[in-house]
Amino acid sequence: MRILSGIQPSGEPHIGNYFGMIGPMTELSEKGDTFLFIADYHAMTTQPEAELLRSRVKNLAIDLLACGLKPEGNAFFRQSDVPEVTELMWILNCITSVGFLERAHSYKDKVAKGFVPNNGLFSYPVLMASDILLYDAELVPVGKDQKQHLEITRDLAIRFNQTYGETFVIPDGMIRSEVAVVPGLDGQKMSKSYNNCIPIFGEEKRLRKLIMSIKTDSKGVDDAKDPNTCNVFGLYKLFATPEQLAEMREKYAGVGTGFGYGHAKQALFELFWEFFRPMRERRAELEKDPGFVEKTLKDGAEKAREAADKTLSRVRKAVGLR
Ligand code: ADP
Ligand code: TRP
Repeated sequence: MRILSGIQPSGEPHIGNYFGMIGPMTELSEKGDTFLFIADYHAMTTQPEAELLRSRVKNLAIDLLACGLKPEGNAFFRQSDVPEVTELMWILNCITSVGFLERAHSYKDKVAKGFVPNNGLFSYPVLMASDILLYDAELVPVGKDQKQHLEITRDLAIRFNQTYGETFVIPDGMIRSEVAVVPGLDGQKMSKSYNNCIPIFGEEKRLRKLIMSIKTDSKGVDDAKDPNTCNVFGLYKLFATPEQLAEMREKYAGVGTGFGYGHAKQALFELFWEFFRPMRERRAELEKDPGFVEKTLKDGAEKAREAADKTLSRVRKAVGLR
């Protein structure tokens, strides 16, 4: 089963990225035949600065390997190392109606937030569909925010197959319901573009301070609190064992116990810091070996290109090119 996902190098990876995509992909990479890429073409839609893009790609590659992604037997690569994806995008562009793209939530949200959209941002879902269809992916693990993009991909694949004959595999999304949307510091979806993230890696003092700044209601230390509406609890449950979680629930329910949000945040920080400890250590090792990281990406691109060439030949033939 071919499993594929991608992540934009648009800032430091955060807890939402980890539980929504990086964690599941890392687990799946144990079995082999997964494709994971750093979507640098996509990042260009909102961030055109060359040096920043280059350094973010490099850092993200280290981050993902540090999280345990296994390169052997899989393809871990930089999207732009297989530029054929843009040829497929062109072909798909020609069966994509403008009205269809105008209805995409992520495009509408960015425009509503004041972004002046370029054509790249507008056709972002077509590039994403190309990423998925080029490699014959069957399963795409992502967070819930990508659900519509996957529907667009399926739609384009079906439309293409109806127009030109069976060419593409129709992919399915894999969205883990328990971590579908990880809340950020302000309770909105945690996202690099909302400035509300808890990065996976970083200096202890900065990360502790961020966790201590999570927004809560104003209940005091002696009041009962509602864990189901609390962001701190929402994050705590990602890291806690069932016993730790039950204990925390009791503390939230207690009256006159002197247990406040500050204590809950402290407990969250401890679990968070322990959880990522081995990955932090691996990250420090990888940073010393940039040659290894670069070679891994290059090998990954070679493997990806083999798969891409096969699909593209099929597609070119189907549409009457060459
Ligand atoms: P961001 O919104 O921070 O820029 P990306 O768009 O790069 O994140 O997303 C990379 C992956 O992480 C995608 O699969 C996305 O669905 C997932 N993801 C991002 N934010 C969250 C979140 N808050 N909860 C769950 N998954 C998330
Ligand atoms: N759009 C995805 C995101 O922002 C990243 C991405 C690009 C992707 N191409 C993909 C994810 C293909 C899955 C499959 O998170």
